[in-house]
Amino acid sequence: MSDAPPLTVLADDTAYAEAVQLAVDSAAAYYADGTSTLDDDAYDRLVRGIQAYEEEHPESVLSSSPTGKVAAGAAVGDVAHTVPMLSLDNVFGAEQLVDWAAGVERRLGRPVTAWSVEPKLDGLAISARYQHGRLAQLITRGDGNAGEDVSHAIGTIVGLPDRLADPVTVELRGEIMMTAAQFEQACAKRQAHDGTTFANPRSAAAGTLRTRERPYVCELTFFGYGALPNPDDTSELARRLRQLPHSEVMTWVAGQGVQTTAATPVAGIVAETLDRVQERVGEIAAIRPELPFGIDGIVIKCDLAADQAEAGFGSRAPRWAIAYKLPATEKITKLLAVEWNTGRTGVIAPRAVLEPVELDGSVVTYATLHNVADITRRGLMLGDSVTVYKAGDVIPRVEAPVVHLRTGDERPIEIPKVCPSCGDAIDATQERWRCVRGRTCRAIASIIYAVGRDQLDIEGLAENRIKQMLDAGLIADFADLFFLTREQLLGLERMGETSTDNLLTAIEQAKTRPLSRIFAALGVRGTGRSMSRRIARHFATMDAIRAADAEAIQQVEGLGSEKAPVVVAELIELAPLVDKLVQAGVNMTEPGATPPAEGQETVQVGAELPLASMSVVVTGAMTGPLAALSRNEMNELIERAGGKASSSVSARTALLVAGEKAGSKRAKAETLGVRIVSPEEFAAQVGAFLQQSTGDA
Ligand code: IVH
Repeated sequence: MSDAPPLTVLADDTAYAEAVQLAVDSAAAYYADGTSTLDDDAYDRLVRGIQAYEEEHPESVLSSSPTGKVAAGAAVGDVAHTVPMLSLDNVFGAEQLVDWAAGVERRLGRPVTAWSVEPKLDGLAISARYQHGRLAQLITRGDGNAGEDVSHAIGTIVGLPDRLADPVTVELRGEIMMTAAQFEQACAKRQAHDGTTFANPRSAAAGTLRTRERPYVCELTFFGYGALPNPDDTSELARRLRQLPHSEVMTWVAGQGVQTTAATPVAGIVAETLDRVQERVGEIAAIRPELPFGIDGIVIKCDLAADQAEAGFGSRAPRWAIAYKLPATEKITKLLAVEWNTGRTGVIAPRAVLEPVELDGSVVTYATLHNVADITRRGLMLGDSVTVYKAGDVIPRVEAPVVHLRTGDERPIEIPKVCPSCGDAIDATQERWRCVRGRTCRAIASIIYAVGRDQLDIEGLAENRIKQMLDAGLIADFADLFFLTREQLLGLERMGETSTDNLLTAIEQAKTRPLSRIFAALGVRGTGRSMSRRIARHFATMDAIRAADAEAIQQVEGLGSEKAPVVVAELIELAPLVDKLVQAGVNMTEPGATPPAEGQETVQVGAELPLASMSVVVTGAMTGPLAALSRNEMNELIERAGGKASSSVSARTALLVAGEKAGSKRAKAETLGVRIVSPEEFAAQVGAFLQQSTGDA
């Protein structure tokens, strides 16, 4: 045994190809801008694992392998590209883009006629050679001049048909990737095969594409971004393709039955001005978190063939195109520990403690792990290198372990045998484990939540006071608060006459809150404040909510077929609590809402309201007449005025209310051309709805 740390034996060609891809990506990031996702040790271990596999399987060596030039060229039987597959130069922001465009126009001596703007697909470049309309050969990019023949993958790639609509001879270029759904399936298959998962969709696509001997088949996806006739081809089609603008080439490609991004929300567009280019960059960036496939930037190209020809090529990349890079949403870091917490609904949730890593503008230390099944499914171990994903406002999540980086020192994650909060048993019959005591396990947390400002808003009821009442047996849930007597309260330590009277008044006031807040106070799993408002407005009364089955609940916008049954089950569980609230005389109706009529789908109300069907985002500190409103109260106000409150700015945002110290949301809204108003302007617009917004009847 040497002193070197042990390395993982790569299980098969797929694992080997995935490892190569991870190493190549890491090295590329390291040399480009120092943002490699692997530290030196991990990179070293990965490369030695690759080396070991290559020594055992010389026939499988990939030309892109980082282990040196030894095998490249010789062992792999490389296929020369008819036209080199070039790289793209990068810019990292608006200013750099303007500088680059100015450079192109200087070279042309005139403005660029039109720009094409499309997503930069985060997969592997491929050249698909069609002969007389039949898919003949698939070649990877390799070193740009020659690549590997991966024709064995033909037939497993969605979007790349065996036959084109016309019997043409042409080379299509595009990106091979895995969609989110394909990635999930691939991980499940790999899990069943050798108990491991892929690290991320890109390396999974690489591993899958390059494997000849396939113990299992995983589906891939192709998106085309170009079409090239053979340089020697003098046919009419070849001549036409060489002359068409890029945008029209892509229309032709799609017409041949090949997938392009045309049908996706990030479809390529032609922009006449650089301002429009910028705007589209903003739109694509904004929608990125919702895409079912990975993009790592936006590609901006001169659209006209003549402009491209005049701008020409550098040695590495064309001068007529540029990649506008977006920040990475995924990094590799270490899983240091797993913490288990019982939430206020009794759900026992694991949380990953990570070695801090910078991701999409913030440092990530914790990430969600969902549930026990999720941990097992991914085969996670303590000490694993893991891929961590974060996009936009989404809570960071651990995607998968990078099995090739294991050292042998990893330890199994300890799964709790009893509730980490109260020590009672765990109900493990559902995917989401719960303490058998349910909500009572963390009664204090449920009550603190229920009396909070955005729910019942009972002033003067701090945590220590709630604890005191629980300990004294005066309350077991928040409904019991409404039955407290003056004598009971006075009997508590440190409780004087004035505070008792104030508290009783506050509790009395809480009975009059609108249904949306009473419902929110219940803390129904799968619903937050804004969903509670939607439910309350939709059904108008608690009776109507309780009478609804899963199908009826699904009529509420945003409550899909997965959440609806959970809400129904929760309401059954919460029935005694709700009954107690009714008995106490708590308000059970939503002001201004009418219950849906029998058989009617959704009630369309409020078309004449000032914010009718507008998506509105609030950011920064509110001032003027809105100064006292919490974010939730602002959202209530927006919805009362007919709008939809949202927390993130996207292409769909109609209005941004920007207060003092508005930061990135304001910047994003500016890029997207979203209308921005001050709190004072907004108050003037929706003033009529203001008084009602605090929830006081
Ligand atoms: S055009 C000669 N368009 O990015 C110009 N490339 O970093 C060729 N890529 O090798 C590239 N999406 O694999 C182009 N819409 C797109 C792209 C795209 C992804 C890849 C491509 C290229 C790499 C350069």
